[in-house]
Amino acid sequence: MALPLTGKVALITGASSGMGRATAISLAERGAKIVCADLQEKPNPRGFEADLDKTTPEVIAAKGGEAIFQAVDIADVAQVDAVFEKTVATYGRLDIVVSCAGYWTTFRLFGDEDEDLWAKMVAVNTLGTARMNRLAIRQFLKQEIDPVWGSRGRIVNVSSCAGVTGFPGEVAYSATKASVNHMTRAGALDHAKDSVNINCVAPGVVATGMARGNLESDSIRSLMERATPWPRLGKPADIAGAIVFLCMPESQWMTGQVLCVDGGMTIGVPPPT
Ligand SMILES: NC(=O)c1ccc[n+]([C@@H]2O[C@H](COP(=O)([O-])OP(=O)(O)OC[C@H]3O[C@@H](n4cnc5c(N)ncnc54)[C@H](O)[C@@H]3O)[C@@H](O)[C@H]2O)c1
Repeated sequence: MALPLTGKVALITGASSGMGRATAISLAERGAKIVCADLQEKPNPRGFEADLDKTTPEVIAAKGGEAIFQAVDIADVAQVDAVFEKTVATYGRLDIVVSCAGYWTTFRLFGDEDEDLWAKMVAVNTLGTARMNRLAIRQFLKQEIDPVWGSRGRIVNVSSCAGVTGFPGEVAYSATKASVNHMTRAGALDHAKDSVNINCVAPGVVATGMARGNLESDSIRSLMERATPWPRLGKPADIAGAIVFLCMPESQWMTGQVLCVDGGMTIGVPPPT
């Protein structure tokens, strides 16, 4: 039997490491051809993957899948244009865009944030994600609806539970991730009539290179564990599983949703330990 995403082409930003890498590998396992887009092809050396010596296309090829790498900084207009051109030139179409690349830096109080920090957060998290969404929609509108899959194209954005509930020490990050949640809802409203699904996954604390510094700090790790009702913190596969679901035929009637995959962090006040 054919794999459920056979014939589909997926473009994933942040695909070299962490959640983007896990998502690229999972979508390839379901038959999609993958364009791995990232600042660099090598995985983040601070990641927790067991195979950090291999690039994502190498892992996918070893499993019998098909993938290419294209360097892109989602904050750069020309580079984002180029990754869409490369995708269509290579595979002739585009069906799925996972906008996973994001920028985070160390915690600091709101009063200590500055213009440069805000400009960088907005450039990557807000403008970069919006750019990926717009170009995806334009390409999808050139293509027909797949009647079995139920869509003309799927977008899955990756925000953060910090964009859903307040989290101390990361106001600029939280605000730009909230903008990703809301562009998901408003964008989905504009393009539901075109059978373009736009959804979002908002992760909790996940063990990736980006989070390593926090996980290795006893005080931050214990704060994050207390804020997460589930007995463990997240793994990239937890997030990839939800993103893959949002790309499958079964989720064709879902759009504009922000799915918190966070061990319960956004449910409410955690009970006493
Ligand atoms: N790790 C967490 O706890 C956590 C929690 C909530 C949300 N997130 C979000 O999840 C997403 C994935 O992060 P991760 O934890 O897997 O981190 P990661 O460091 O493992 O992977 C991020 C990847 O994105 C790439 N990248 C960064 N900026 C880019 C840019 N401007 N253009 C293209 N690629 C870029 C990096 O090179 C890296 O390969 C991010 O959007 C992040 O904000 C992470």
